[in-house]
Parts: sequence; C-alpha cells; structure tokens
Amino acid sequence: MQNGQLTISYRIYQSADELPVEWASLLSKAVEATERSYAPFSNFKVGAALLLDNGEVVCGANQENAAFPSGLCAERSACYYAGANYPGVSMKAIAIAARLGGELTETPTYPCGACRQALVQYEKIGGEPMVVILGSASRIEVFSSVSDLLPFVFDNLE
Ligand code: THU
Repeated sequence: MQNGQLTISYRIYQSADELPVEWASLLSKAVEATERSYAPFSNFKVGAALLLDNGEVVCGANQENAAFPSGLCAERSACYYAGANYPGVSMKAIAIAARLGGELTETPTYPCGACRQALVQYEKIGGEPMVVILGSASRIEVFSSVSDLLPFVFDNLE
C-alpha cells in the first residue's frame, strides 16, 4: 500500500490592481457579463470571459430555463461558443465572477463540476494551460490551469 498526496498551489490577490493588466481586463469583462445573465430562478448571475490565443475575448453568462436542467452555466456558454466559432484556437485564460442579489459575491465562485470537466477538455485539446481567474468582493484567486481544479479528471475514452 502507498499513500497518494495532492498539493494545489494558487495565488490570492487582494484586488484587481495587483493583477497583470491582461487578467484584470479579462476579469472586468466577466463582471460586465454578469449583466447579461438570465437567472430569474436563482438570481445568481454569473459571468465568464474567455481569452483565446488569437486575442479574441468570448463572454458567457448563465442562462436559466423553467425546465431547470435545460439551463446552462456561464463557463460552458463561453467555452462552447468559443469551441463552435473558433475551433482549433486554444483558450488561454478564463475569468469568472458572480453577483447574488445584485452584489458581487463576497468569495470566489468556483466552476461547478460539469464546467470543470468541459473546460479541462478544451484545455487538453488546446495544448496549453488555461489560467482560471476567480473574482469576488474580498479577493481574487488565480489557478494556473483548469486541471488544478479537477485533478482526477475522467478522460479514459482517449
Ligand atoms: N452557475 C454558473 O453559471 N456557473 C457555475 O459555475 C455555478 C453555477 C449558475 C447556474 C445557475 O443558473 C445558477 O448559477 C445557480 O446555480
């Protein structure tokens, strides 16, 4: 028997002023994208901004539906749009922010499991790490790769 152990490192910034300019700008686009969320059921408005290797920024916002499972998270709306419109272009970074009752959440909103699985697949086909920037009112957390958020990924089909 052996023990496995996992350590995940990430950076914590007190404010967007401390971030590299490219990430700060991406995060502000994610915050703007929260305004385009359609979340009448949860009132939890999530925005995502995805920086592509060609310099384009693609945004997503969660879209809810009366038939609840039919809705889609902000992160997947962004990466599926990018996958459908810019196939073969790798995704360099994704910024995520959310508002609850209008206010930016106090703590970061981590992508749900399904979004992590979708993002990690695009990270893999893109061939380079996708940085994850999580904004909130109290702090900003930055992970160097989506796989840091989903270390034990399902990919046994490949
Ligand atoms: N949501 C996202 O858009 N991204 C996440 O990572 C977590 C949850 C959305 C889905 C739903 O519209 C609302 O937030 C509440 O779960």
